[in-house]
Amino acid sequence: MTQPTKAVRGSIIHSLGDPAVVGIENSHEYFEDGLLVIENGQVSRVGPAEALLKDLPAEIDITEYRDSLIMPGFVDTHIHYPQTGMIASYGEQLLDWLNNYTFPNEKLFENKAHADEVADIFVQELLRNGTTTALVFGTVHKQSVDAFFEVAQQKNLRMIAGKVLMDRNAPDYLLDSAESGYQDSKALIEKWHGQDRLHYAVTPRFAPTCSDEQLAVAGQLLKEYPDLYMHTHLSENKDEIEWVKSLFPERTGYLDVYDHFDLLGERSVLAHGVHLCDDECQRIAETDSAIAFCPTSNLFLGSGLFNLPQAEKYKMKVGLGTDVGAGTSFSILQTLNEAYKVMQLQGEKLSCFKSLYLATLGGARALKLEDKIGSFQTGNDADFVVLDYRCTPLMSYRMDQVKSLEERLFVLMTLGDDRAVQETYAAGQSVYQRG
Ligand code: GUN
Ligand code: ZN
Repeated sequence: MTQPTKAVRGSIIHSLGDPAVVGIENSHEYFEDGLLVIENGQVSRVGPAEALLKDLPAEIDITEYRDSLIMPGFVDTHIHYPQTGMIASYGEQLLDWLNNYTFPNEKLFENKAHADEVADIFVQELLRNGTTTALVFGTVHKQSVDAFFEVAQQKNLRMIAGKVLMDRNAPDYLLDSAESGYQDSKALIEKWHGQDRLHYAVTPRFAPTCSDEQLAVAGQLLKEYPDLYMHTHLSENKDEIEWVKSLFPERTGYLDVYDHFDLLGERSVLAHGVHLCDDECQRIAETDSAIAFCPTSNLFLGSGLFNLPQAEKYKMKVGLGTDVGAGTSFSILQTLNEAYKVMQLQGEKLSCFKSLYLATLGGARALKLEDKIGSFQTGNDADFVVLDYRCTPLMSYRMDQVKSLEERLFVLMTLGDDRAVQETYAAGQSVYQRG
């Protein structure tokens, strides 16, 4: 489908690299009065408006945004769509939270109509928050993934999802088997993987709910279809880690369970990794696997503080995850706000440019999608968000005091949330407008 060339004009920023690797100066490009030119849903050019306008035909449609910031859409590298309706459930840490709230809630997704309803609300919520790509858990039910992909396809979004594999240590009503998990996953892969902008993730819930046979099946699927994702949880909570050690005594640790079944690789995303030893960090980096850093969830469930400097030291790929419904916000801006505090509690800083990286290009790299999303590189999908610096009276007043781009971005990332998202575009089309 060809679309007429169009452009958006305003302040534009995008990330070019990890500040920890390339330095702050080289980590981003900023155009105070910028132009983003879009052809057929892809980025054609980005740069200073005055210079680019000279080369453009006069008749192209240009949308102008003032007091706003245009940037690539947010990338959420770990989220559970079925947990939308149970966000903010009181009082438990991981294992009790799963048993008391999560599992009973996920049972509802055996009903396709329920899954359809939640998938619709969930995708709306992503777009309201400026998130254009997410790596998404379904439930054990095959139809939960159909429901999600149907909505994502209808809006032409770049999304990754998968059916949960879990065949033990959970209520019977939520268990599959190694064989049915394999067959259901395969059917979903054949139906959805590579359709439009959709990708499939083999999704073993976490080591405690998967038998050896099922983890082997996950590895087999990854071998049969080499460009699939692998999405699971790792080392989130101390009791969970002890449990894994008792369930897999022959393995050297939690990560080694996944490694043993050949589940690590350049499209493997491990949520949390809050309690990793140096050997595990090294192995994650060596296999080019990625960690989803989920600060609001880690604080909400009392799981611990993710050690970002350790991840940087070992050159691990890291993206941000909201981890709704253990996470308490769909907003990547609010996730950055909490990430900053997680660093503060460890005597560390999180610069606004590192935050920009994590929220966009870092997430794209974690998903091995940096040649499609996460920056305004020519040929990338034109998935972007327009953020309003003055969306609340307090933000507007605070913005009157700022003296630099850094300060402006930091205030946006600390005070901003869904109210700051003025418009969201996917493949060059507006898919959400505030108000
Ligand atoms: N570990 C296994 N399942 C889950 C889940 O649904 N949420 C979180 N945060 N951790 C998990
Ligand atoms: Zn999770």
